[in-house]
Amino acid sequence: MKTIKAFAMSAAILLIMTNMESFGLEKSGNAVTEKTEILTPKPLAKPRINGPLVYGCRPGHPFIYRIPCQGERPIHFEVKGLPKELILDKKSGIITGKTPAKGEYDLILEAKNSKGNDERKLKLVAGDKLALTPPMGWNHWYAHYDRITDQMMREAADVMISSGMADVGYQFVNIDDCWMNAEKNNDPLRVGPLRNEQGNIIPNKHFPDMKGLTDYIHNKGLKAGIYTSPGPRTCGGFAGAWQHEEQDAQQFTNWGFDFLKYDWCSYGELAGEKVTLDGYQKPYRQMGKILKSKARDIVFNLCQYGMGDVWKWGGEVDAHCWRTGGDLGFELDRIFDVALKNAEIGQYNKPGEWNDPDYIQIGWIGNANKMGIPELTPMPVNMQYAYMSLWCLLAAPLIYSGDMSKLDGLTLSILCNHEVIGVNQDPLGKCGSVLKHNADCFIMVKNLADGSKSVGLFNRGKSAVDVTAEWAELQITGKHAVRDLWKQTDLGLYDQKFTAQVPSQGVVMIKISK
Ligand code: GLA
Repeated sequence: MKTIKAFAMSAAILLIMTNMESFGLEKSGNAVTEKTEILTPKPLAKPRINGPLVYGCRPGHPFIYRIPCQGERPIHFEVKGLPKELILDKKSGIITGKTPAKGEYDLILEAKNSKGNDERKLKLVAGDKLALTPPMGWNHWYAHYDRITDQMMREAADVMISSGMADVGYQFVNIDDCWMNAEKNNDPLRVGPLRNEQGNIIPNKHFPDMKGLTDYIHNKGLKAGIYTSPGPRTCGGFAGAWQHEEQDAQQFTNWGFDFLKYDWCSYGELAGEKVTLDGYQKPYRQMGKILKSKARDIVFNLCQYGMGDVWKWGGEVDAHCWRTGGDLGFELDRIFDVALKNAEIGQYNKPGEWNDPDYIQIGWIGNANKMGIPELTPMPVNMQYAYMSLWCLLAAPLIYSGDMSKLDGLTLSILCNHEVIGVNQDPLGKCGSVLKHNADCFIMVKNLADGSKSVGLFNRGKSAVDVTAEWAELQITGKHAVRDLWKQTDLGLYDQKFTAQVPSQGVVMIKISK
């Protein structure tokens, strides 16, 4: 609770002591003091409905959607235009039922409390496509590695609600590797038979009731994700789906999972040394087809580190997002390079098909090389703002992967700025393009559905500098309104250009509208 209150203290000045050696910043003694502030304003007491403006779902399948809404509870919800197959719980704002017949349904979501009311449009697109905006949620990997348990997953779902993350659109609670049995492992509770006599996969003893777990997550209006590999073993050495693909997909469906991460891992041993394009695609094409045949909306996340230019064919094998490179891991100073590389393949991003540069790792995260217990990220705070801004401008999946039980106010404020997230969830689904200004500075420009542009002014250098976005390079002319998205404040009308002082390794993120 304490941590959540800290978020409410927006504009509080934090004195952050961080070890910045690995980021090439000057330091005094062993640490540098960095003065920074929480930029995201405190949410208002009156309701504010967030979340995507379009939502893809498949006819006849189970439907679940929790209206993301900030503001003091209790909030009373209403929905205009709700198809008869769907039911709204007016207290929680959770919509359930069966997705109606193919078509587009224009809903008006309404929220009211003693302080005021809000409404927002949501277009349900019942058809073939899912993930019309980048998936948002949490994944256990960088916090808990092979220590993950059912209890931790439930706790993450609890915190997704209590922290307010779900109120800005975070939705998936995803298990990564290590929920199955292995033949060998240091933890005896994770060792056991991989499958039963019928060949059904057996979760390890830390996961005694998979259906109970997804029910728990669904009862909160959230969605559940799971992980496996097309190989005989996962990257962590646990049972993979090889030769049981259909059976495992059916099991995941029966358990009630809504998201599958499918990680290449030991499949490499089967694919051989010289893998053809067809060889890269084969296991994913197979699973994509299987998942599509199931009576459940399951978002399909490929994890094969970008091999065979996956961004060119991920959509074709019925995937919704795909990792574009190796694990981001603990070398977080790579975020700028990774983002720039992703921007180069940005043309492959579109609604329902997203490049995935890996998870958001801020707050308490573990060192992937050591499978370590979480520690507070050594990333400078300004770079954390840059990180979140880049992922939003790239239209990357927003999957947080830190320790949910240790969320602090600053981390939450960076994860939960609804205007910044709005850029990520924009229905046009464009990836930002990069205009390099010099060795240190660049801007990233993302066109938005309402005709405006979101622009990140980035500075990778060691000291603050002025960065200018010229209207000519943005291909606009005349007076435009500029809004600071992190601070959620209008900066005024600008003609020809906008200049801001950008902190070292940081960002200023704006929206430019006519
Ligand atoms: C690979 C993936 C990671 C994680 C681990 C689990 O390294 O890239 O994201 O899923 O496997 O073992």
